[in-house]
Amino acid sequence: MTQKILPSESESYWLANKELPLFPKLIEDIEVDVAIVGAGLTGITAAYLLSQSGRKVVVIEGSNILKGTTGFTTAKVTVQHGPIYQQLINTFDEQKARLYYDANTEAKNFIKQTIEQLNIHCDFETLPAYLYADTEEGIEEVEKEMDAYNTLGIEGATLTKDTGLPYTVKQALKLENQGQFHPVKYAKALMEKAIENGVQFYEETRAKTVKSNTVELMEGQEIRANKILVCSHFPFNDGDGLYFARMHSERSYALASVAPTNYPKGMYINVEKPTRSVRTAMGNDGKRYLLIGGEGHVTGRFEGDTNANYETLAAFGREQFKVSHYDYRWSAQDLVTLDQLPYVGTMTAGKTDVLVATGYAKWGMTNSTVAAKIMADLVLEKENRYIDLYNPARSKMKKEDIKSFAKNNAGVAKELVKGKTEIPDLKLEDIQSGSGDIIMLDGKKVGAYKDDQGKVYLVKPACTHMGCNVSFNSAESSWDCPCHGSRFSYNGDVIEGPAFEPLEKVEYTD
Ligand SMILES: Cc1cc2nc3c(=O)[nH]c(=O)nc-3n(C[C@H](O)[C@H](O)[C@H](O)COP(=O)(O)OP(=O)(O)OC[C@H]3O[C@@H](n4cnc5c(N)ncnc54)[C@H](O)[C@@H]3O)c2cc1C
Ligand code: FES
Repeated sequence: MTQKILPSESESYWLANKELPLFPKLIEDIEVDVAIVGAGLTGITAAYLLSQSGRKVVVIEGSNILKGTTGFTTAKVTVQHGPIYQQLINTFDEQKARLYYDANTEAKNFIKQTIEQLNIHCDFETLPAYLYADTEEGIEEVEKEMDAYNTLGIEGATLTKDTGLPYTVKQALKLENQGQFHPVKYAKALMEKAIENGVQFYEETRAKTVKSNTVELMEGQEIRANKILVCSHFPFNDGDGLYFARMHSERSYALASVAPTNYPKGMYINVEKPTRSVRTAMGNDGKRYLLIGGEGHVTGRFEGDTNANYETLAAFGREQFKVSHYDYRWSAQDLVTLDQLPYVGTMTAGKTDVLVATGYAKWGMTNSTVAAKIMADLVLEKENRYIDLYNPARSKMKKEDIKSFAKNNAGVAKELVKGKTEIPDLKLEDIQSGSGDIIMLDGKKVGAYKDDQGKVYLVKPACTHMGCNVSFNSAESSWDCPCHGSRFSYNGDVIEGPAFEPLEKVEYTD
């Protein structure tokens, strides 16, 4: 029998064979100093920092710890965030671009020092990061980024074509002294230290709304807190501050296979689209793995079968690294703000007790650390020189921001109209086992999924966030919303927000 090239199930390389502790549900009302909503890298780092202050801190997680985007990342710990510095100089100014570099450099150093201090075994490696070009237009962009580095005084950078990749590139910007690690091992160690310092964690405890200084949970309990930290990736209370209109959600795909013996000794990302992101990692089995990522698109907006994205990446790996078989495949999404800078700080002007951290644009390893430090300093009333830079209320919108705002929201409006006007031409009998789509059933639009045994699951396809029609993501067997990126399982349960109510189920009688 020939071996399948891609695994049939999606499984994160970081979460595979990684045991995580289980925590109870919160079943009563409680009162604390600080309530943190969301146990990804942001929430856990904030809990770790605040645990050293003697404050009473609780972390609630809607599903399971580290099973959000942090468990599905590629975990490069770098300050080379694509061609970010030229963008920041153009959108803001040199001073702000330099501040961003300083903030993320401090965060990178914090991660490294914390690993040393706590003796965390998370496979941290110091490596160069490369931003490379494989087209003529790309060369220009890479060289402009080098100019931005020179303007800002960023040290350790050179232009080179010698990357260690098995394929030639037209130009590359190499930045020395960056890092990569195992994000789940790192975050788990911080969480254990926070618990040792008295922080309490709860799982399957989903926040619904924030009213004044109270977090209301889906199951009715309340957490009263002096400060509330919204670290839920997409802010679950996104109506406060209209976050849904100021961000979009981008999904990407990743594959892992045993690395070739002459594996590349760096971390790589191209400057063009589609993105190709490459790094290696040590596996629990002592083998080195090659990780390839890319094929990003706005969540819920991909025409056709999303499995095609894995196949395209697999073909890239086959061509460039001679990979014939992959052990893991997974996909995830991150949030992008209008001006590419995360939103961290007071969630809505005037309500200083509710803080938010979101919008890392796929550079959340250092940015979540910056965010956790800003939030901890705001709680502890300490100075932090990055507060203004990351302030969510900074948006005195610039020309470029207005353009992205208009583009984001025009896309949403188009999806809303499409959802109301398009009549699907499929019927239930057209749906194959193991797949799903929007069909017409008894004169109504219905989301239909048939499992491998042919069992039928029907849902109303209107997203419970703001009513856009969801689309079926065949690679993950989920219903994904093209408007703000909410995701639901094939039977309608919430996988990720901003929606917090499940899709309405539709009765099916054979
Ligand atoms: C494919 C991909 C590759 C990436 N690669 C890199 C990289 O190489 N380097 C880098 O720096 N960054 C990278 N990133 C970005 C980085 O992974 C993320 O920015 C970061 O992990 C986000 O962390 P978080 O803690 O904010 O969110 P999450 O890890 O998503 O944590 C949020 C948590 O909140 C919980 N939650 C949500 N709603 C509620 C609610 N209502 N109540 C309670 N809990 C709730 C969720 O279940 C989740 O566990 C990548 C992202 C993607 C998608
Ligand atoms: S996520 Fe906003 S309408 Fe679906």
